[in-house]
Amino acid sequence: MINVYSTTFDKVKKFDNGNLDMMDEPESKYFEFFCGDIDIGFFRLRYKNGVINHGNNFVYENQRGIGWGNKIFLVSLNVIKIVFPNVNIICVQVHEDNKHNIYIRNKQFGIDNRYIETEEPNRFGFMERAREVDDDYKEYLYYDTIDNLWNRNKEDINKIEVKLK
Ligand SMILES: CC(C)(COP(=O)(O)OP(=O)(O)OC[C@H]1O[C@@H](n2cnc3c(N)ncnc32)[C@H](O)[C@@H]1OP(=O)(O)O)[C@@H](O)C(=O)NCCC(=O)NCCS
Repeated sequence: MINVYSTTFDKVKKFDNGNLDMMDEPESKYFEFFCGDIDIGFFRLRYKNGVINHGNNFVYENQRGIGWGNKIFLVSLNVIKIVFPNVNIICVQVHEDNKHNIYIRNKQFGIDNRYIETEEPNRFGFMERAREVDDDYKEYLYYDTIDNLWNRNKEDINKIEVKLK
């Protein structure tokens, strides 16, 4: 059983390694998740006009390398369905150097739903750090409907049981 609890920016900000783009803003909702009572990691959800931005996903160092990186987003899909029932689209972004996370997102969203920043239609109005306007800082953007994401990842979603406490 994966237990998910609401947490706060203040509790997780110490983990910002410079790549997480954490921001202290009211629309950023943080969630920490546990496997039983083992603390695994956290993620952030931001909601705007039917769109969720999933980000800041983090597995604590002592839990890395055993598959949680694949599961965080799937855990968050369960949470999104409960907390934001009217959501239609889910988007994520990954720095182009983060090969590990790109590998995970390619599987979950499909390469067809990946855009490079220069082709970006929009960021759905979510604020990002100013450094992204820097020519040297490029991100991949991924987005798809929640229904497509759920169907594409159904097999893996069915392997986990998530409870929002
Ligand atoms: C990124 C992160 C969440 C991944 O979690 P993890 O538990 O280490 O990842 P996993 O063990 O679940 O690995 C998932 C898959 O990535 C693969 N992988 C591991 N390292 C990789 C690399 N360098 N490049 C590509 N794929 C890699 C694994 O083999 C595994 O593949 P599989 O599904 O085919 O078995 C974790 O490393 C982390 O919290 N990093 C710090 C925060 C961060 O950078 N977050 C992302 C911000 S965009």
